[in-house]
Amino acid sequence: MTNQKRYGLPYQGSKNFIAEWVVEHMPAAPTLVDLFAGGCAVTHAALESGKFKKVFANDITDAPRLFEQAVKGELPADAKRWISREEFRQLKNTDPIVRLCWSFGGRGSSYLYGRHIEPWKYAMHAARVEGDLSVLRMMGVAGGDGSRLWVVHHHEDCKRAYTAWRKSYFVEGDTSAIDALCSSPSATPALLRFRHLFPTDYMQEGGNLDKRLERLQHPQHLQHLQHLENLQRLQRLQCQESTERLDSLRVVQGDYRKCPIPKGAVIYCDPPYKDTTAYQTPGHHPTKKGSGFDHAAFFSWVRSRREKVIISEYYIDPAEGFTLIAERKKPRIMNSNGTDGYATERLYGWNIKPSDLNSLFLL
Ligand SMILES: C[S@@+](CC[C@H](N)C(=O)[O-])C[C@H]1O[C@@H](n2cnc3c(N)ncnc32)[C@H](O)[C@@H]1O
Repeated sequence: MTNQKRYGLPYQGSKNFIAEWVVEHMPAAPTLVDLFAGGCAVTHAALESGKFKKVFANDITDAPRLFEQAVKGELPADAKRWISREEFRQLKNTDPIVRLCWSFGGRGSSYLYGRHIEPWKYAMHAARVEGDLSVLRMMGVAGGDGSRLWVVHHHEDCKRAYTAWRKSYFVEGDTSAIDALCSSPSATPALLRFRHLFPTDYMQEGGNLDKRLERLQHPQHLQHLQHLENLQRLQRLQCQESTERLDSLRVVQGDYRKCPIPKGAVIYCDPPYKDTTAYQTPGHHPTKKGSGFDHAAFFSWVRSRREKVIISEYYIDPAEGFTLIAERKKPRIMNSNGTDGYATERLYGWNIKPSDLNSLFLL
């Protein structure tokens, strides 16, 4: 799984794992409209396939704009800066990098890191991004370069140092070490920022700290950096592909009903799922709407279209009138520990004939 090519942005509900398969099942057409493009995994695979002259990426959010920025090499120079909890609160609704890379599960609602671990992540960020070890040293972590590998090999020492420092700083309120460092002319920007961001009353959580810090023992992912590195990797599309191929991308932001649909386009729809508890349970009709998205209105809208439409869903009742085109199992990623079983992804068609799908056959 680790060597699998990544398509699109890190995004909740991304079709990364099956993007190529989805594109293979698209009928040939001059334009593909990815109507609920989200993190643009399918848009990305479609651009790389060279199957379409134009690819429209529409979403109600600004995520496709971020994808466009990334593939065109236009990410802001300060994309790798540390985003504090307060900045996250202020920027999450307007800055897609903050929302996607700094929120838990990429959902945009809560900050990525718990307070108990945040100063540690900050220290690691300063080491990795700015090459500044002063915060780690202030915490009593001696030696090493703050690299992931070093921390993995010394996690017990790191945990011990961080636990002791955290107790003296946040519990006992002892700021003498950082005060002395900050008042020295050689105080680094990372240290000065730290003093400002983490006052001694910053921690609000009680509970068993030892238990909470168990995560320090796990491989030291700085998840925000991983997400950012994925964004930066997208710039390879710019290097590998002709500018002509990137020029074929058009980003639109708005409700799916307002998106311009060029003549002869194929429309691909990956709307919010009805209810994640309804995973691959044919015949099961959830009573509550998980996402607040009006699926009945969406299905009627599809049936009103003259274009060929492909819909991604776990299951659609045959009574809705769509044709099952293809299905396959996909690992279901439920949490940071990895996968949890499989879900069956299905593609349904509207106005699709067997001859539209080349050598592929309708199920
Ligand atoms: C399952 S996600 C799509 C994931 C995408 N295929 C990918 O690979 O990243 C569903 C998307 O529908 C978008 N969405 C929800 N309501 C919408 C609407 N009324 N019009 C357009 N997009 C909408 C959400 O913002 C979300 O990005």
